[in-house]
Amino acid sequence: MLWGGRFIDELDPFFKKFNSSLKIDYRLVEQDIFSSIAWSKSLFNANILTQSEQKKIEEALNTLLDTVIKNPSLILNSDSEDVHSWVEKELINIVGTIGKKLHTGRSRNDQVTTDLKLWCKYKVGVLLKQINRLKITFINISERYQNTVIPGYTHLQRAQPITFSFWCLAYIAMLNRDMDRLKDALNRLNVSPLGCGALAGTSWNIDRDQLAKEMGFASATINSLDSVSDRDYVVELASIASIGMIHLSRFSEDLIFFNSSESQFIVLSDKVTSGSSLMPQKKNPDSLELIRSKSGKVIGFLVSILVVLKGLPLSYNKDMQEDKEGLFISLDTWSDCLLMSVLILENLEINNIICLEAAKKSYANATELADYLVNKGVTFRDAHHITGKIVLAAIKKNVSLEKLNLNIFQNYCKYIDKDVYQCLKLESIFNKRDSKGGVSSRQIQKAIDIAKKEVYKF
Ligand code: ARG
Repeated sequence: MLWGGRFIDELDPFFKKFNSSLKIDYRLVEQDIFSSIAWSKSLFNANILTQSEQKKIEEALNTLLDTVIKNPSLILNSDSEDVHSWVEKELINIVGTIGKKLHTGRSRNDQVTTDLKLWCKYKVGVLLKQINRLKITFINISERYQNTVIPGYTHLQRAQPITFSFWCLAYIAMLNRDMDRLKDALNRLNVSPLGCGALAGTSWNIDRDQLAKEMGFASATINSLDSVSDRDYVVELASIASIGMIHLSRFSEDLIFFNSSESQFIVLSDKVTSGSSLMPQKKNPDSLELIRSKSGKVIGFLVSILVVLKGLPLSYNKDMQEDKEGLFISLDTWSDCLLMSVLILENLEINNIICLEAAKKSYANATELADYLVNKGVTFRDAHHITGKIVLAAIKKNVSLEKLNLNIFQNYCKYIDKDVYQCLKLESIFNKRDSKGGVSSRQIQKAIDIAKKEVYKF
């Protein structure tokens, strides 16, 4: 134990287990060894360790890292309180007494947040690559389905026709924001708390900025009291992951709907669906349903960490030990769901004909008729009303707008002429929406070109 001197009685075994975070924070072992090596160099610079002591400590820590990488169960089988005490204990086992010098001027309070920040930096890098990969998949699908017309919805009612490509571009826009948020958070978390000690700074002559650079941070934090209590970066990442998961959940919901027996717009691959134990005909979109539900636990952690921190007095409190489990689960869940989304998209097929028929139905071109009337000099409000009446007449006759006879159109508005049929065609609907962000093929091509340029070459 790291702190036995002041204690007479043994820990109650149940408290010992309750207090331990090793089963969760063993994942920080690489970061703990890395920051410990950097710390040993600072101790040498401050004349606390001799050069040879520092070298021995560094070598021992590297040996320990190799051993753990080969046999990760080593940590979990130990009864240490946390990863920090485990690394220190093992170091002392390897190098003996000089290992006991490593914790000079350092506290687990600055150590744990340093390690966690290092891990977050690594994980943000992984997530950026995974989002980028999903983005590339969306771009490819978007190029493939540039001419595939699907109905666009509001209130889950067919509203205006769009293309599948346009739908993909909507998700590309969301993924771009997810990436921006991660990069932005990275700037704020790229500041090292090491050397803050327990809360009031270290009493040794440590160049904290140099130490920060040694570990790849941009600089050292400005206030030790804040540094050991700051978990803003955990909250930020939990929030970014929640937003990212909401995007993936809405993506899942769209595809579940497109895949439903009622729509049949798409066919999901056998690779990402499963059958029913009872009904032989079933092929269920489990992969998508799981993404949709997993978003719940990611959002749950965001709420949980906010509640943990709310009302905590400065500075470090053991409550904060509860930050890691949920963070690991949240970011891992997001990673898995990103990979799963790639797999689903890459293997997706589209029923072009069914999509087109659906887009043509439900008077999705009614807005065009209203705009046509505006072009003929009718005010939009009146045009809206007249079009509504014409749609009603078409519904009664059970025909689409383009199948109505000209004299029926003219019963409602004398300005309507033969050219109305041209404007009700799908092509003209698309080509007219040609301002930035619109569904015209020119705008879609532009958006795809921009998305391609923004793809990262990792
Ligand atoms: N295991 C602890 C955590 O994850 C490390 C810090 C412990 N510090 C302390 N003073 N007990 O938060």
